[in-house]
Amino acid sequence: MNSGSLVVIVGPMYSGKTSELISFIEIYTLGKKKIKVFKPKIDYRYNNTQIVSHSKSAVDAIAITKPKEILTYLQGNENAVFIDEVQFLDETLREVVLQMIESGIDVYCAGLDLSFKANPFIVTALLMAHADNIIKKKAVCHECGEYRGTLTYKFVGNGDEIDIGGFDKYIAVCRDCYLKLKQKNE
Ligand code: ADP
Ligand code: TMP
Ligand code: MG
Ligand code: ZN
Repeated sequence: MNSGSLVVIVGPMYSGKTSELISFIEIYTLGKKKIKVFKPKIDYRYNNTQIVSHSKSAVDAIAITKPKEILTYLQGNENAVFIDEVQFLDETLREVVLQMIESGIDVYCAGLDLSFKANPFIVTALLMAHADNIIKKKAVCHECGEYRGTLTYKFVGNGDEIDIGGFDKYIAVCRDCYLKLKQKNE
């Protein structure tokens, strides 16, 4: 048996990470492959049994709290496993993902590479280190309109780096606009 491969999809908010994950899910589904889809329970934004993109496409998913729970849902015949919002899972996700790849499962992970403070989410960085392929997505910058959005800016509330939200709190911006906004508001 061959080992599986790891694809990691990263970028700022609204850059199409979940949409890209859903496209890969469609490819495996069309090929009648066995798949499982997971998301962290903390992300209650739309509902707890689906992953949902900002453009409202949705796929059923199993909500988990700890990475190890993923293994308890596997039946041993899966071709691929998909995990959205990996930044909300702890770093033991690395071992769980490696175990799946070594047992022949293709693993697709999507998540934020950087917090709104531009600090790396360590779990995403660890997965990127093991990835066979990293897909780095961009968003349209909310300020200048260029397709260069690599960062997320938070315009309300507290400094929490774990804070569920959408257009009510966060915009995607390019590096220049991120620096301008920070200078203006600090
Ligand atoms: P992510 O999971 O990276 O947040 P999604 O796949 O959920 O991204 O959403 C991507 C969709 O968000 C795009 O197809 C587009 O319809 C919408 N969208 C909203 N704001 C932006 C933006 N600033 N740049 C790009 N797409 C945006
Ligand atoms: P998205 O990447 O699919 O748009 O979702 C990102 C989620 O992460 C959203 O619920 C907001 C949250 N978030 C944080 O908790 N901390 C952050 O620093 C950023 C940028 C987003
Ligand atoms: Mg998403
Ligand atoms: Zn910009």
